[in-house]
Amino acid sequence: MDELSTGRVVIVGAGLGALYAALKLAPRPVLMISPEALGEGASSAWAQGGVAAAMHDADSAADHARDTVRAGAGTVDAQIATRVTAEARAHILDLTKLGTPFDRTAEGGYVLSREAAHSFARVVRVRGDQAGAEIMRALIAEVRATPSIQVLEGVMATGLQAENGRVTGLEIARCDAQYDTGLSASCLLHGAAYIMAGGGSGGLYALTTNPPRIRGQVIGMAARAGAVIADAEFVQFHPTAMATGADPAPLATEALRGEGAVLINRHGERFMLRLHPDAELAPRDIVARAIYAQTQAGLCPALDTRDALGARILTDFPAVAKACLEAGIDPVRDPIPVAAAAHYHMGGIATDEAGRSTLAGLWACGEAASTGLHGANRLASNGLLEALVYARRCAVDIDATLGSVAVEETPIVILPNLAVAQAPDPALVTRLRRAMTDGAGVIRDAVGLSRTLTEIAEIEAAQPDCPALQNMTATATLIAAAALLREESRGAHCRSDFPETKGATGTRSYLTLSDALTL
Ligand code: SIN
Repeated sequence: MDELSTGRVVIVGAGLGALYAALKLAPRPVLMISPEALGEGASSAWAQGGVAAAMHDADSAADHARDTVRAGAGTVDAQIATRVTAEARAHILDLTKLGTPFDRTAEGGYVLSREAAHSFARVVRVRGDQAGAEIMRALIAEVRATPSIQVLEGVMATGLQAENGRVTGLEIARCDAQYDTGLSASCLLHGAAYIMAGGGSGGLYALTTNPPRIRGQVIGMAARAGAVIADAEFVQFHPTAMATGADPAPLATEALRGEGAVLINRHGERFMLRLHPDAELAPRDIVARAIYAQTQAGLCPALDTRDALGARILTDFPAVAKACLEAGIDPVRDPIPVAAAAHYHMGGIATDEAGRSTLAGLWACGEAASTGLHGANRLASNGLLEALVYARRCAVDIDATLGSVAVEETPIVILPNLAVAQAPDPALVTRLRRAMTDGAGVIRDAVGLSRTLTEIAEIEAAQPDCPALQNMTATATLIAAAALLREESRGAHCRSDFPETKGATGTRSYLTLSDALTL
């Protein structure tokens, strides 16, 4: 394996956390590792709702924090929630300055959407469902114009090397034949510091709203190097993924329900009315389980936007309308079929308030990190907020750790000709995703989780020399093991054999891969 040393901070990933961290580190030299062209393949670009922030005079960060804690089912770190929500406004103003065209009122305020479990309309948005795409567009333009940031596109991280609890290098390889230069070795890259910001784990499930490459690899890589993983069992299922047969499943944003869209079944029954006082705007885990139950019972749940939006869905929610029309659904005339799909991993690389992982030299932000903000059930549109807050904190802490920088002394990285990473056998990936959905999905029990752990081990053994598969199976193992260990139901983690929640407040879980493998 070739080795390459760089004085740059190496960032794995290309979503909101990665881009924002790179910008906040400038002029410190950064090397971003992006499997695809910037803007493609990152979950952030697919985020429809927006960013939660108390921007209205009648709203407050304290109320936002309270909603975050309440939605999180007793495991949100209240101090983290208070501090993160207090920073939200400043980040919205920063994104605006960087060119994000948030929807504005005639008076110059921000147009704010209502989403589930928020006590106030506080989600800043862009043209209904374009927030993620537009924030990413603005930040990518800024990154491209920032000389200290070098981006390696078409390159993927396959492993982290650590010695004595400190990260010492990152293994990289070309990720697609499309980028193949025809030659041979993978490469061990040594950086000044490392930030893991490569997304969550949704694609470990058969039904997901996440982009195709997001399969828990970054969390798995950190776990394989010895990092502690927090709250792995808390996987959020979105109630209104479109059930059109597409993989990934397009999202029908919660903002539609904020606008008054309702959930009905094949009999036209508005079933959420009998399940929760807030009906369609109940916390996400509750709505997701209701949708799952309707699907299991063959009742074909659907999101009916007709009365609430009519033809306005075509202009006000362009991404949703486009996905419907592509699937042959006319949302102006027909309800949209929906299913619960893996959407966001509350668990991830355990980080402290500065974004530091348990391994020296390794920081994490975005969905790959678990900061304590989301607890067992993330409040809608808090994901992008957390990515912004912790990307900046990682940058500040890395600056403080590494000290001053002489920019001109850090040359650009010229890669050796890299080999294409060994791809996981698609049949094994399909089997893994099926096993996770069946055994570690919306409803779990001990028998199913133990069976899933056995099957994950078999899948890994079937292609033993494939790091990309091992990164996925590591995260899958951690999810199933943490779910087996948590003998209660809490937030998004629902055990049919332990249906009770053990106390209003719960503890977070912390697990290493080696501990998980002993189960
Ligand atoms: C949505 O728009 O429904 C998703 C927002 C989120 O997951 O934060």
